[in-house]
Amino acid sequence: MNKHMQFRMGFLYLALAALCAFPVAAQDAPDVGPHPPQPMKPMESHIGKVTGHAKDAKMNYRRYCAGCHGDQGDGNGENAVWLDPKPRDFTMATFKCRSTVTGTLPTDEDLFDTIGRGLTNSNMPIWNTFSDQQRADFVAYIKTFSPRWEKEKAGDPIKIPAEPPVTIESISHGKALFTKLECWKCHGPQGKGDGPSAATLTDSKDQPIRPYNFAGGGDDSRLKCGSTNSEVYKIFITGVDGTPMPSFADVIQPNDAWDLVHFLRTLQVTRHSKENDVLKAAGGKIPAYVEKQSEAPASQSENKAAGGGN
Ligand code: HEC
Ligand code: HEC
Repeated sequence: MNKHMQFRMGFLYLALAALCAFPVAAQDAPDVGPHPPQPMKPMESHIGKVTGHAKDAKMNYRRYCAGCHGDQGDGNGENAVWLDPKPRDFTMATFKCRSTVTGTLPTDEDLFDTIGRGLTNSNMPIWNTFSDQQRADFVAYIKTFSPRWEKEKAGDPIKIPAEPPVTIESISHGKALFTKLECWKCHGPQGKGDGPSAATLTDSKDQPIRPYNFAGGGDDSRLKCGSTNSEVYKIFITGVDGTPMPSFADVIQPNDAWDLVHFLRTLQVTRHSKENDVLKAAGGKIPAYVEKQSEAPASQSENKAAGGGN
């Protein structure tokens, strides 16, 4: 398979998406090929004041999405064979970018945001030329492919506490957590995606999958599900469902999680960030973390061993 094809395809879709921003007097696409299960479920989505309707997305889905995601939403569109990672199989209702706890359905907003943002390091385009209404309609349409949407509600959004200041201590603690929680086993000690387990990983559809390479991007490097610090926080608390990237919600305390975010930013070596500035000001070296005694009551016995006490 060749990269040029992928690129051309990407451009084609973007061009089409751009055209679509100005809805042309609806010339219905000829109704050929396999059909979604009929009659279509009257699924809705709710994003702020906008209500999406599945039936209104049918034509746009066929035109802009089915080539990759398939008419049946099973991820087997005609282009799927060329793509890595593969287009999402909507019949599984498993999504990577969620604000909700692992294993649960995403919110309508999550899907709406993902469609507008695209998925970096994949062929999923940025669909920001559609109107809010059209994107909301897509969200509703995606929900017709799995019965889970009729039986389950979206999961509870995780709570993200206010971000503490970026300090060299925070970065240093984050580094200790990266070691302790064994993030390096997959992401590699320098976050280059080359840890000892990296080569063996597969996703829930048995496709090989690579851990994210933090050092790979440039100044504008984005993560799959966003680019802000809160979005980085979100991803290892919610986990990337359908992949070996687990949720760490049960093992990380909220403030510790922020320390980890601050450290991860320093792995993005070429990105301009507050974290890299702080690191530079500290001489470019992350000092070894010295455990404080006051923090988690759960680890009191350890703290005693380290001397002191209350
Ligand atoms: C050129 C191929 C291609 C086209 C066209 C395409 N997608 Fe995708 N899409 C992908 C790929 C590949 C992924 C999986 C990326 C990954 O797993 O990192 C994906 C994933 C998704 C996801 C899952 C997000 C998540 O959190 O897991 C949604 C939702 C989605 N696409 C919606 C759409 C919609 C709506 C359209 C049409 C407007 C569309 N896609 C068109 C390739 C495509
Ligand atoms: C078992 C292997 C494994 C472990 C352990 C692991 N990860 Fe991941 N991680 C992955 C894989 C695989 C992906 C890519 C998922 C994808 O591309 O869909 C990923 C993705 C990520 C992303 C999102 C990158 C993006 O594309 O947006 C972040 C952030 C992340 N991991 C942080 C961590 C942190 C922090 C830890 C430790 C607390 C950790 N990971 C532990 C395998 C792992």
